[in-house]
Amino acid sequence: VTRSLMFNPGPTNVHDEVRRCLLETDVNHRDPRFRDVLAQVRTGVVDLLELDDTHVCIPFAASGTGANEAVLAAVRGPLIVLVCGHYSCRLADIGERLGLVVERLTFDRWQGIDCDVLRRALEQSPPGATVCLVHHETTTGMLAPLERICALSRRHGATLAVDGISSLFGHRPASWSADVDYYTVTSNKCLESVPGLAFVVARRSLLEPPTTVSRSYYFDLRRQWLEMTSRGEPPFTQSYGCYLAAATALRRLDEETVAGRHARYSRLRDRLADGLATLGFEAIRLAGEQATWLQLYRPPPWFDYADMRSRLAERGINVYTDAATLQDGLVAFATLGAIEAQHVDALVEAIAGEAPVRRPSEACT
Ligand SMILES: Cc1ncc(COP(=O)(O)O)c(C=O)c1O
Repeated sequence: VTRSLMFNPGPTNVHDEVRRCLLETDVNHRDPRFRDVLAQVRTGVVDLLELDDTHVCIPFAASGTGANEAVLAAVRGPLIVLVCGHYSCRLADIGERLGLVVERLTFDRWQGIDCDVLRRALEQSPPGATVCLVHHETTTGMLAPLERICALSRRHGATLAVDGISSLFGHRPASWSADVDYYTVTSNKCLESVPGLAFVVARRSLLEPPTTVSRSYYFDLRRQWLEMTSRGEPPFTQSYGCYLAAATALRRLDEETVAGRHARYSRLRDRLADGLATLGFEAIRLAGEQATWLQLYRPPPWFDYADMRSRLAERGINVYTDAATLQDGLVAFATLGAIEAQHVDALVEAIAGEAPVRRPSEACT
């Protein structure tokens, strides 16, 4: 087995116990063992978000985008999307592709969401609107002011759909969790499982009649939910190994606790920032609240991202920064997944080891 260290924003390193689950594949999705693990995963997700009977978990065999598409395919009425970076822009694109009437409220990705703009839009929008946003914009590391957005949506009777793909399980649920009507999350980020499963956590009452017919055949939330609850099975083929891995990852997260995971990610981010500071990287402080596991840096002049990325890959270390962030002269390092302090130190040592022996700034002194 080839092992790499992952400092990209997902998929992540997973624990060996999770990885071994993938060998268990000779079980079909109509088998009682599959029903057991499906039930464990569905309950485990809702419990870890500290939601009770008001919400249900509906998994799909998909990446996170599939969960977002399932939610948007179920939306009725106009859609207000808070666009504040790459992933929220994609939500608006999906809504338009599905034929929804989409209002984009666009914000500077470095300044974050202005709740007054949302308030004015809600005051003018017809009843029955859905507000949709990304909690953690994974390209900047900025967290949306979710508590205020929840309060505004509640006050105006809007449905609230939150892409929590890169925040849930790494951030502690707060008092606002139950105000969100739809959350989406994936198996391969803060849950620390393998890619392949996307979860919609939906308010139960929105799945009950009267509901609109989904605009999607495969990503039909209501049918997926009905079949999973009435027969205990998914309507379409799914991987037992993937579910077993997710159930194991959920158990491990329950043992670590979401607060513990949040603290570990924060410690690792700070340790990496300290190490990179010695090499001349400046950690960027954002205008709004920052996520725990993603940090942007202004690299020193000698740092050549493309070259460093391929040289780190030769050492089995994965890093990734998106094109827009690179264009702003910044690089990103993620510290999520089944990693510990020694792995962060290995990254710092590897970057130091690949740095020019005499950096240009030193040559001038
Ligand atoms: C906030 C957010 N939304 C959506 C996605 C898309 O997820 P996927 O690539 O699993 O479809 C990502 C991926 O990183 C993300 O960070």
